Amino acid sequence: MTDWIQRWKDGETGWHRDTPNTRLVKFIDSLQLRKAGTVFVPLCGKSQDMVYLLEQGYKVIGVELSADAVDAFFKENAIPYTVQKARDFTVYNGQNIRIFCGDYFALDTYHLEVVSAVYDRASLIALPEELRTKYAQHLYDIIPSNCRMLLLTLNYPQAQISGPPFAVDETEVNTLFERFKYQQLECFNDIKNEPKYLHAGVDFIEKATYYLHKK
Ligand SMILES: C[S@@+](CC[C@H](N)C(=O)[O-])C[C@H]1O[C@@H](n2cnc3c(N)ncnc32)[C@H](O)[C@@H]1O
Repeated sequence: MTDWIQRWKDGETGWHRDTPNTRLVKFIDSLQLRKAGTVFVPLCGKSQDMVYLLEQGYKVIGVELSADAVDAFFKENAIPYTVQKARDFTVYNGQNIRIFCGDYFALDTYHLEVVSAVYDRASLIALPEELRTKYAQHLYDIIPSNCRMLLLTLNYPQAQISGPPFAVDETEVNTLFERFKYQQLECFNDIKNEPKYLHAGVDFIEKATYYLHKK
């Protein structure tokens, strides 16, 4: 089991990117967000994708286990914030953004009642198989009906290299999100841009983007 809090303390955050994800930029319109709509970013780390969403005029609700990550997000982006202790979470509030610092599985419907979209990059695929099932079920339970979602996954021969990030193929996405309407928007092999996998002799690494809709 990955010790995420320790990874943040040790600076082992190789997944973090300093620029917005190109697939978010490409497919954000498919979320059909209204002006000032709220996007839920599960397992958000200190993702710059949240800054991108704010810059587009949207509101953001995140959840993240590591207080180091949440502190870093607000400080590095110079976003003023206040901190409040609640039952299961330490709640960080900035303008148009709230991050619940604590366990995703402790979130409930009332935390997310204003959410109209979900953005998952490196969240589902950060989890081992048994937790992915729990993650998808919990997500369905806590987000409002009519929520739309962008899900970014990686798929590669799992036997050739260990995760995280874990390989998640289309069949698994279909099974995990069977209660959602689902469409694959894009899938391509990007092994040439993934030196770690290339040098390990991994055959391929597919990057897929899915649009999901909770009916
Ligand atoms: C691979 S990182 C991805 C972060 C972010 N989505 C991004 O794209 O940069 C996964 C994050 O999930 C957080 N995490 C793992 N399990 C969690 C849980 N049960 N509740 C909240 N956050 C969790 C970790 O601390 C880590 O920051």
